[in-house]
Amino acid sequence: MKVHVVGGGPAGLYAAILIKKSWPETAVTVFERNRADDTFGFGVVFSDETLEAFQTWDAESYRAITSHFAYWDDIEIHFAGTVRRIGGNGFCGCSRRTLLKLLAERARSLGVQLRYQTEIADVAEFARSADLVIAADGSNSRIRETFAGIFRPTVDLRPNRFSWMGSTRPFDAFTFFFHETAHGIFIAHCYQYELGRSTWVMETDPDTFVRAGLDRMDEAASARFLEGVFAQELAGHPLIVNRSVWRNFPTIRCARWTADNVVLLGDAKATAHFSIGSGTKLAMEDAIALYQALCAAPGQDVRVALARYEAQRRDEVERTQHAADVSLVWFEHVRRLWTMNPVRFAFGLMTRSKAITYDNLALRAPDFIADVDRAFAGEVRAQGFEVAATRPPPPPMFQPFRLRGLTIANRVVVSPMCQYSATDGLPGDWHLVHYGARAIGGAGLVFSEMTDVSADARITPGCAGMYTDAHETAWKRIVEFVHAHSAAKVCMQLGHAGRKGGTRLMWEGIDEPLLEGGWPIISASALPYFPHSPVPAAMTRSDMDLVIEEFVAAARRADRAGFDMLELHAAHGYLLASFISPLTNIRDDAYGGPLANRMRFPLEVFRALRRTWPDDKPMSVRFSATDWKDGGLTGEESVEVARLFADAGCDLIDVSAGQTVADDQPIYGRMFQTPFSDQIRNEAGLATMCVGAITTADQVNTIVAAGRADLVALARPHLVDPSFTLRAAAWYGVDIACPPQYFAGKDQIFRNSVRDREDVSELRRRAKPKPHATTFKQAAE
Ligand SMILES: Cc1cc2nc3c(=O)[nH]c(=O)nc-3n(C[C@H](O)[C@H](O)[C@H](O)COP(=O)(O)OP(=O)(O)OC[C@H]3O[C@@H](n4cnc5c(N)ncnc54)[C@H](O)[C@@H]3O)c2cc1C
Ligand SMILES: Cc1cc2nc3c(=O)[nH]c(=O)nc-3n(C[C@H](O)[C@H](O)[C@H](O)COP(=O)(O)O)c2cc1C
Repeated sequence: MKVHVVGGGPAGLYAAILIKKSWPETAVTVFERNRADDTFGFGVVFSDETLEAFQTWDAESYRAITSHFAYWDDIEIHFAGTVRRIGGNGFCGCSRRTLLKLLAERARSLGVQLRYQTEIADVAEFARSADLVIAADGSNSRIRETFAGIFRPTVDLRPNRFSWMGSTRPFDAFTFFFHETAHGIFIAHCYQYELGRSTWVMETDPDTFVRAGLDRMDEAASARFLEGVFAQELAGHPLIVNRSVWRNFPTIRCARWTADNVVLLGDAKATAHFSIGSGTKLAMEDAIALYQALCAAPGQDVRVALARYEAQRRDEVERTQHAADVSLVWFEHVRRLWTMNPVRFAFGLMTRSKAITYDNLALRAPDFIADVDRAFAGEVRAQGFEVAATRPPPPPMFQPFRLRGLTIANRVVVSPMCQYSATDGLPGDWHLVHYGARAIGGAGLVFSEMTDVSADARITPGCAGMYTDAHETAWKRIVEFVHAHSAAKVCMQLGHAGRKGGTRLMWEGIDEPLLEGGWPIISASALPYFPHSPVPAAMTRSDMDLVIEEFVAAARRADRAGFDMLELHAAHGYLLASFISPLTNIRDDAYGGPLANRMRFPLEVFRALRRTWPDDKPMSVRFSATDWKDGGLTGEESVEVARLFADAGCDLIDVSAGQTVADDQPIYGRMFQTPFSDQIRNEAGLATMCVGAITTADQVNTIVAAGRADLVALARPHLVDPSFTLRAAAWYGVDIACPPQYFAGKDQIFRNSVRDREDVSELRRRAKPKPHATTFKQAAE
């Protein structure tokens, strides 16, 4: 068996080590175009977890690596004249040059042939010269490009510019510096990797880059410039360069990683942004995964093992890439967070990629979370709330929030959810029990389902309405129950189904047209939802006038029924959404075309409602911030949509996404719609509510504390757990309103939760320190 490895980086060398160690008879050769010590860059970082994997797979190189590493536990954040230190992070750093030297020594000792200064030019010919070809030739992989037709790579060049520099300035923590100059914001990601040497990855946005003239400076000049920017932080130490060119980070993905006997490893197949420090980790873990796949297919064709490698490794790589993407976007948009309270800014930085959360940090860095709670409570107190003055303050999700004259006791919201259980629009006992249970369950605000303004405005025959006296009486009964038995406030969501009307109950075929008994449907344009759906009539001016009247009449009824708040449903492809999205609005009159025109009718409806709805009661609008479809609404436009509604008197933007067209392509994941709320809240400076795949109280606290939303709505989690908030209050030990009938249950869960929390803390205290988990200071000594 003959194995050729192209690239003497971490992926190539580690793969060569593992293969040669297990199968000494295999001829393994590494081809590297550079000289042995001719390596770019400064340091690399690994987490405790990654080091544990190295220990398992090759104890020799693990020992060599860890005896040359600098360790640290803390992350330090310098922002707006403040310094915050957060412990419990367990990282280590090493010079890239040392890492490669140690791996090369280990490979050589096992009998791997290392052929430096050997560039592989004719890749196709080369692929035929071995049984297995490992393409570990880095982010500019020639092999990937040669077989691009099979690997189908995509490269997303990110807008920010970065350069990898070094310094002699020591650090005892992974340190972020955020610095504003007359040109714009500069960020330095810094860590020490050996005595007297630290990495400084410099980052700035494209406009600042040009304004500062960095596009016209050579390597030395840009280092001198940055020495000026970070003069205080460098404390007299120089910046060192080593091929420190400014680049745009390329996020690389490949549809396939294997082609016959050729396999892509490391940066050649996928890159992960440097801000999560996972590039080298991914490269070496790829080598482990390939080795495991080879072990699992003994004596079989190498292609079987390669297929197994790709099948088993892809999920993990994509998860890491996703975390890296979220992280890099945070750095790209740091400007929008510039005026934030520094403690909450630091919390946002720590939790940016979703891997670290509020509860996580409460265990690792309790003092920091106590600061976050205090900072959050301080802001709430500044809005005149006495309740936040308790010591220690409750976690952010239990802090109150005010919209006009309405105070909401906590940040958890029961998201609007159609029950498809009304008769001729009339809510019945099901609705009383459903809404009543969720209000008793502790949420601060309970939304009604989309409640329609006329019989023809319904989605399905089971949808609730607010267009008869009987509807008003039935809703009043529900609102009165909620107000009498809980501290929850109630918001009515008013809507019109538009072209998605006349469809079946959700469980009989969502969005599918009724087989019989349908009704006339209207929309912005005469475009059916599915090809087989009925074609809606494009609305005329008199249709618009009628719909506005219907909305206004329903709002009057909602006020009389006692609702505390009103939401206009302009999301998910229903009537008003059909005007906002360019995919569903192809009108050529004053209501179609540019965004200002497409917003005209939804704003007419909103203004008419705002005039009707009492001044001291708040209003919100739900809209889809993206259509998840090319040619649909974009992130920038969604900020403008939010601003237009806010200018018309909207108090809260309820940020949802998608469902505009049947062939949208959402990118799902935990909290997947929250970035849109973050963008609108922090760019437009508006109060927002986020929703979508948020399932835990920990996530609610993380979102709210980081300033990604003011309120957090949960839909499906509330279907299975009406007492989501009560349970969370028991877990965090917070006293919230609870009906006396349920006191005993709350107290019992509370006692158990306190015990559970103490157990977790105790386990953590007792956990044995890992062999490599010394601090940087200890390592240096
Ligand atoms: C600014 C910056 C900061 C980073 N910070 C970190 C960090 O803190 N921690 C971390 O873990 N990672 C970090 N990384 C990422 C890390 O450097 C890479 O992800 C990692 O080196 C990938 O390893 P690799 O073996 O796949 O590729 P590489 O290390 O790029 O190795 C590829 C090798 O292939 C050789 N080669 C290419 N083509 C040929 C050819 N045709 N013939 C012969 N040889 C060839 C190249 O010379 C090179 O030595 C950072 C990257 C950047 C750009
Ligand atoms: C059964 C069901 C009914 C829904 N009905 C509505 C509705 O009437 N109005 C609305 O705006 N969204 C509605 N949604 C969407 C939810 O409010 C929410 O945005 C979505 O389910 C994502 O949140 P989740 O991940 O917490 O479930 C509904 C969702 C479900 C599951």
